[in-house]
Amino acid sequence: MTEPKITISNSGETRLETFRRLRRTRMTEGLRSLVRETELSVNDFILPLFVAPGNKIRKEVTSMPGVFQLSVDELIKDCTEIKKLGIPAVILFGIPEFKDETGSSAYDENGIIQTAVRALKKELPELIIVTDVCLCEYTSHGHCGLVQGSEIINDPSVLLLARQALTHAQAGADIIAPSDMFDGRVKAIRNILDSNGHINTPIMAYSAKYASGFYGPFREAAESTPKFGDRRSHQMDPANSDEALREIEQDIIEGADIVMVKPALSYLDVIRRVKDRFHMPTAAYNVSGEYSMIKAAARNGWIDEQRIMMEVLTSIKRAGADIILTYFAKEAVKLLNK
Ligand code: PBG
Repeated sequence: MTEPKITISNSGETRLETFRRLRRTRMTEGLRSLVRETELSVNDFILPLFVAPGNKIRKEVTSMPGVFQLSVDELIKDCTEIKKLGIPAVILFGIPEFKDETGSSAYDENGIIQTAVRALKKELPELIIVTDVCLCEYTSHGHCGLVQGSEIINDPSVLLLARQALTHAQAGADIIAPSDMFDGRVKAIRNILDSNGHINTPIMAYSAKYASGFYGPFREAAESTPKFGDRRSHQMDPANSDEALREIEQDIIEGADIVMVKPALSYLDVIRRVKDRFHMPTAAYNVSGEYSMIKAAARNGWIDEQRIMMEVLTSIKRAGADIILTYFAKEAVKLLNK
């Protein structure tokens, strides 16, 4: 490669001699789009939605402007619009009628998610319905599994998560997404699905899910803040990325069809490592805190919201994500469709 050379003539005139001018392909929008490496598509997105009991409920989440808890009737209205926009998939989180120690409303066939899935599948059979599998929204203590003393116990919790997953599949869920981070849950879910005839229901595993401060606003939306302690005994330490590869590898061995890194923005390096190493369909979750920070700064007039939204989503795809779970899905797709 040639290095630029600066020459000075006898008359004192300076001249830059270079054949390589990287700016040439940036001079017009036509040229820029011709050499663009990463392009967002409508097909990249999964929109998270919160389902609540009742009728005609549409309650905005204070810390997440534009995000609502929706009753099933309102959910169907929103999903009709979402389908029209071309967004291929939604992921559902449930706010149950009641909570107890064992999160029993999570694996009740008439629970909030099971009811919502049946209704959606009837009205909009082609919209892909992903269901989040975890007990934290359903337990009185707000933990992702059963608690014994001060420990969140693994194996008995996994059996309940598998039951929850089966009721979701039986209601008609298209993809099961375990977000609990307990050991062995993907295998347990694969087994229970297969032995009940759901051999073609894929699992999207939250495989490398970090114990992150960025989930704060979600816990208001899903009413799932732990009453004591935290999630550090099952979610990953933000300092680790080799460990993320072990988590991902384990979930693939256990039968995950799609693997996920979560959150997205502080973990772009992890997304890249995962994509390069495993060549799996890879999802990234652009989580609540990442959304709320942009909304808050935009409301203060400090940033250009649309521009930053598209820059952030593009960076997640550039890092290697094939699928982006994001609260921005509708706004991004409206821009892309323009
Ligand atoms: C657990 C779950 C959480 C999120 C998705 N699934 C919260 C947690 O682990 O505490 C967070 C999503 C977000 O912050 O947008 N059911």
